[in-house]
Amino acid sequence: MSLVENLKWRYATKQFDSSKKISDSDLNIIKEAISLTPTSYGLESYKVLVVENPEIREQLKPASWGQSQVTDASHLLVFCGFNEVTPEHIEAMLKLKSETQGVELENLNGYGDFMKSSIGNIPVETVKTWTAKQTYIAIAYAMAACAELKIDSCPMEGFDAAKYSEILGLEAKGLTAALVLPIGYRSEEDKTQHGKKVRKPFNEIFEVI
Ligand SMILES: Cc1cc2nc3c(=O)[nH]c(=O)nc-3n(C[C@H](O)[C@H](O)[C@H](O)COP(=O)(O)O)c2cc1C
Repeated sequence: MSLVENLKWRYATKQFDSSKKISDSDLNIIKEAISLTPTSYGLESYKVLVVENPEIREQLKPASWGQSQVTDASHLLVFCGFNEVTPEHIEAMLKLKSETQGVELENLNGYGDFMKSSIGNIPVETVKTWTAKQTYIAIAYAMAACAELKIDSCPMEGFDAAKYSEILGLEAKGLTAALVLPIGYRSEEDKTQHGKKVRKPFNEIFEVI
């Protein structure tokens, strides 16, 4: 099926079939799609936590407006932005680039200095917003990969980030939860799957200038 057909197939799944599990090979494809997400400066300033522990998922449910997808989906992905982007993060990325592309590290110094000065000037709170924004692109890639694999998903902002931080120990990891993505297989009982897609007409979204 084409990308658009797959996107028509997907919907924000409200009820998952808790008996169905995603295979490791499909999970790897989803991870690969997330890893291929473009990011600002290529810094990949986020982490995706794959929460497998059922007790932790039980704790996360009340912190997610009681939404059942958190416990019933096959896997729960928590997209977290870095709280800071430090010179060390920048140097680590340049080292990886140098090794991967066979470029001398010293030839990347100018790019490194540019990143360090422009990112260094961003106020701390704005850095968190900036890294969170990157996770929205990653979740879109994850959802598109899921749709191609006929795996259901539900993007979620309906959760308490402070409680997630407490339960998952995010502060110590230098992370803030931005988005949650339960993935798995829809329950036959989920009535949402039968609803027509609600979308504005093109002329309200697109404007030719
Ligand atoms: C950033 C974001 C946050 C969302 N948060 C929730 C949520 O917390 N719970 C939920 O059931 N759906 C959530 N949704 C799903 C939207 O309501 C849904 O995508 C939208 O109504 C369009 O429907 P469709 O995805 O089925 O086409 C969220 C979607 C996005 C993109």
